[in-house]
Amino acid sequence: MLAIDVQALRRVYKGHGKQKEVVGLDGISLQIGAGEIHGLLGPNGAGKTTLVKVLSTILLPSAGQVSILGHDVVQQPKKVRA
Ligand SMILES: Nc1ncnc2c1ncn2[C@@H]1O[C@H](COP(=O)(O)OP(=O)(O)O)[C@@H](O)[C@H]1O
Ligand SMILES: [Mg+2]
Repeated sequence: MLAIDVQALRRVYKGHGKQKEVVGLDGISLQIGAGEIHGLLGPNGAGKTTLVKVLSTILLPSAGQVSILGHDVVQQPKKVRA
């Protein structure tokens, strides 16, 4: 059972002025099994917070598939939160 399954996740934010959009995550995929412990490293602006917000249903994905213990973050957010 995968605790976290992320497939080709993309998340864009609305930009302002001439910049129409800001790409927060550009096609990230990762699989983490139940009981595993990982760190998430990256420089400022790499997308760490954006990823965690999508995993915890605070932000919706722009594209791709994300599930937590088999529950889709878009279709089953209450089960994901539980
Ligand atoms: N609310 C927002 N509006 C516009 N752009 C954002 C917003 N939040 C994050 N970003 C942009 O998304 C990218 C990833 O940011 P973030 O997930 O906060 O990275 P990290 O947590 O790794 O520092 C950066 O380019 C950042 O400027
Ligand atoms: Mg951050």
